[in-house]
Amino acid sequence: MAQSQVPVGASGADEAHISAHWKEEEYYDPPKQFVEQANLNDPRVAEKFGEKNFPKCYEEYADMLTWFERWHTVLDSSEPPFWKWFVGGKLNVCYNCVDRHLAKYKNKAALIFVPEPEEDSIVAITYQELYNRVNEVAAMLREFAGLKAGDRVTIHMPMIPELPITMLACARLGVVHSVVFGGFSGEACGLRAADSGSKVLIYADSYYRSGKLIDHKMLSEIAVQTAEREGQAIEKVLIWRRFPGKFNSASPMVQGRDYFVDEALKMFRGRKIDPVHMDSLAPLFLMYTSGTTGKPKGCQHSSGGYLAYAAGTSRYIQDIHPTDVYWCMADIGWITGHSYIVYGPLALAATSVIFEGVPNFPDAGRPWRIAERLDVNIFHTSPTAVRMLRKAGPDEPKKYHYHFKHMTTVGEPIEPEVWRWYYSEVGKREAVIVDTWWQTETGGFLCSTKPALDPMKPGSAGPGVPGIYPVILDEMAKEIPAGAGRAGNICIRNPWPGIMQTIWGDPQRFVRQYYQKYCKNPESKDWRDWPYFAGDGALLAKDGYFRILGRVDDVINVAGHRLGTKEIESACLTVAEVAEAAVVPVVDEIKGRMPEVYIALKPGTSTPPGEVRDKVVHTIETMIGKIARPKTVRIVPDMPKTRSGKIMRRVLAAISNNMNTGDITTLANPDIVEQIRVAVQGEGPVATREGPEDVKTFGSVE
Ligand code: WT7
Repeated sequence: MAQSQVPVGASGADEAHISAHWKEEEYYDPPKQFVEQANLNDPRVAEKFGEKNFPKCYEEYADMLTWFERWHTVLDSSEPPFWKWFVGGKLNVCYNCVDRHLAKYKNKAALIFVPEPEEDSIVAITYQELYNRVNEVAAMLREFAGLKAGDRVTIHMPMIPELPITMLACARLGVVHSVVFGGFSGEACGLRAADSGSKVLIYADSYYRSGKLIDHKMLSEIAVQTAEREGQAIEKVLIWRRFPGKFNSASPMVQGRDYFVDEALKMFRGRKIDPVHMDSLAPLFLMYTSGTTGKPKGCQHSSGGYLAYAAGTSRYIQDIHPTDVYWCMADIGWITGHSYIVYGPLALAATSVIFEGVPNFPDAGRPWRIAERLDVNIFHTSPTAVRMLRKAGPDEPKKYHYHFKHMTTVGEPIEPEVWRWYYSEVGKREAVIVDTWWQTETGGFLCSTKPALDPMKPGSAGPGVPGIYPVILDEMAKEIPAGAGRAGNICIRNPWPGIMQTIWGDPQRFVRQYYQKYCKNPESKDWRDWPYFAGDGALLAKDGYFRILGRVDDVINVAGHRLGTKEIESACLTVAEVAEAAVVPVVDEIKGRMPEVYIALKPGTSTPPGEVRDKVVHTIETMIGKIARPKTVRIVPDMPKTRSGKIMRRVLAAISNNMNTGDITTLANPDIVEQIRVAVQGEGPVATREGPEDVKTFGSVE
């Protein structure tokens, strides 16, 4: 296919208008061997899941589950946008992921745990053993920790099998889990625990990362203090020890509050707990994610709709069969791990690999050694990981004898040349690739090619997955047609079973954030009047494939995960010397985007600049976590501001990314822009470069 340079869209002038320039990429057909064995090989699927059969089409996903009571209504849309799926149905998520597989698969590995130290033995946990362990933990949570259906519990754990075991034990009881990514700080955990009203925290004492045993329990102390400061008392902290019987933390155990799980479990050996029959609509978990303003939002996901959607998309888009060895290299602490390491794969009786470590330790061959050793055939990771592995070991994959039939990329746009390396080197041209676009809020995939049915196109996610009807709307809510060459806001016209139910404790914010912008009639009970606003800019090509440009709000996608710039700015402002702070995205070769921090100091500050910078970095790491570590902290005499005093983050973003700052004549202090530009970009001519779309439009929606 021709690779002509097609400039599309207008540029620059109108801030709210999103524009884009790039060439069309060539197509790749799914490998024949893949097609022959694929779960989804019927081209009539598009029609089956088409609008004429909506919402009934989704019964196919619900039928992949075992229900104690069948639903009477597929979709209840009487209270938009609080969609209710499979109403009247009763099920238990743990039962669906564990118990029901025992008859056929009890001796098959459910989880394979790969510890980071390569000399340590890999541990396979069969479905039978998963059943035993989940039951014992459920008994402990109920009888020792006093948890019951509807209670929330916050889990701050690394990638060890005890994490999914704890999640499944919660699900067995109907306890709502809120897993906080292990790399977040104790403070971040405490805030989330308080927001969710958790009385119990579950931790691990330690874990391996890049060759070091990290003290994790230490964070629980800060989490408890933070939660209490926010008015949430923590009654118990349960601590899994990475090595049962051996405590690897410098932090003391607080009597009457902290308990070792391996000790508490002694009372519950061999215990079995009946799975609680939960309503389809009962919340299964909360997952906090960053938003445009204010504190992180607790996305509440349901039991029936969520699991049906995770299972259905795992079968059709991930092509998971019970015989597959499936490895998703994400962290369970993010939505990807919830849907596509734990719930989706286990609902389908697959073998799901859990890797404790980082991909490039001790070297960039590690993932491929794991793939070879376990004979992994489905591999799932992020563009960030692919970029890192490509840079650190471009020839490593060749050295190992593994064969993937299927690979996934998720979390951020993938550059076509990175995609091609993934395809030819990692996938050895034998594997189909799906580029899956979705979000914490959406529970499962929204756009992707159907792996056996649609050709792949590097850099494009693809059409809506079955049952998802995406559309691109401009600021006036007008649809931008396919092939128009103009980008806009990607929205989903219809509800689907995986969509979050609400923001925990703040239903109004849920409506405001995702539906208000494009709701056609707030009185309407017709789902057609309630498109879901995803917050991403995108472009729709003539072939019906969506290309995602990135966030349209002031959220930064770091290594495939969203960080709220407002949260980082608030952290900076707690440093005594800082008067003003602005955080902007800067392009990073490996992580995609990183936060860059601009600060103005309070007058009369005598602290040396280096010290202030260190304090800012340290504060961000303690309040949010290392994931938010800024690429650079820049001290400036003043911020570029509008006449009404608003900091122009877009201008700073342009400077940080060596882009043209555009028209700045309307600013209150245009001179400062030149000062900052010279300090950052150096003397020399003004940059004329056009930057990536998300940077260009950064901060234009507020
Ligand atoms: C944001 C959601 C989806 C689970 C992991 C991240 C960006 C996600 C893609 C993709 C381009 C993508 C979007 C989205 N994003 N997948 N395939 N191509 N961009 O979940 O932290 O909720 O972030 O990640 O900007 O809105 P999340």
